[in-house]
Amino acid sequence: MKLQDRVVVITGSGGGLGEACAHRFAAEGAKVVITDLDPAGVERVSAAVGGVGLATDITVEGNVRAVADLARRAYGEIDIWFSNAGASGPDQPGEIQENARWAAAWELHVMAHVYAAREVLPAMLARGDGYLIQTASLVGLAVHPHKATYSVTKHAAVAFSEWLAITYRGRGIKVSCFCPGAMLTPMLLDEFPAGHPVLRNAARPDDVAGQLVAAIDREAFLIVDSPAGQQALQARATDFDAWIDQAATPLP
Ligand SMILES: NC(=O)c1ccc[n+]([C@@H]2O[C@H](COP(=O)([O-])OP(=O)(O)OC[C@H]3O[C@@H](n4cnc5c(N)ncnc54)[C@H](O)[C@@H]3O)[C@@H](O)[C@H]2O)c1
Repeated sequence: MKLQDRVVVITGSGGGLGEACAHRFAAEGAKVVITDLDPAGVERVSAAVGGVGLATDITVEGNVRAVADLARRAYGEIDIWFSNAGASGPDQPGEIQENARWAAAWELHVMAHVYAAREVLPAMLARGDGYLIQTASLVGLAVHPHKATYSVTKHAAVAFSEWLAITYRGRGIKVSCFCPGAMLTPMLLDEFPAGHPVLRNAARPDDVAGQLVAAIDREAFLIVDSPAGQQALQARATDFDAWIDQAATPLP
């Protein structure tokens, strides 16, 4: 799908990858709707890209509806809903986090995607056109040994994307699941000290946003920004036990 003149909602676009995508998508001619928990981020990015925005918690279904209503009032029907907001850590190696962390990760990495699909699918199906994109993670194809809640809920995000694609592709709905590796956004910069090897090898969000535009154009289901995603899938399919042994090696 070409982004020119498309109405695109990007969640988590008050910073990080969502902000980079808001800039890049607007440069492609999209009408971008900004939403994030962070009001200052929403204001900054909306003003910069000439879009509209709403600061809200996307894990509350009524708030998802409010964002959709804003988009419709400002621009008309929504063409693309990019469910991108996410959160990670802090986590300790081997920690099985408390229940509240599991519930919060489930709400953000799964239910926010469910609420969005429930909100926009009826109009998309009526038109026989529309695009749902979910940001999961490379961790949704592999596993992060230090991050139980993040790993499990990102796996669930991949599964929901698969379900959407399998169920609705034949009815004109495009679905993509984005599984990026490390990116130089506040999520990573807040977790690792300057100079850490993870930061040295991380992708720049502007570059990733460019890759996403190309992938949306191809309407590819699985979007990965490095060979690591494909390698994880291959390793699991080839020898699950060998993959478990190798994946158990703690990350740096
Ligand atoms: N940075 C990485 O290395 C990395 C790697 C793989 C996947 N991801 C995923 O990419 C996506 C974008 O992350 P990022 O790297 O830009 O992180 P980020 O922390 O820089 O940005 C995420 C944005 O989401 C917003 N957000 C969080 N919870 C929200 C909520 N309940 N309602 C509304 N907004 C909320 C935050 O305020 C923030 O602006 C996330 O889904 C993340 O899990 C990131």
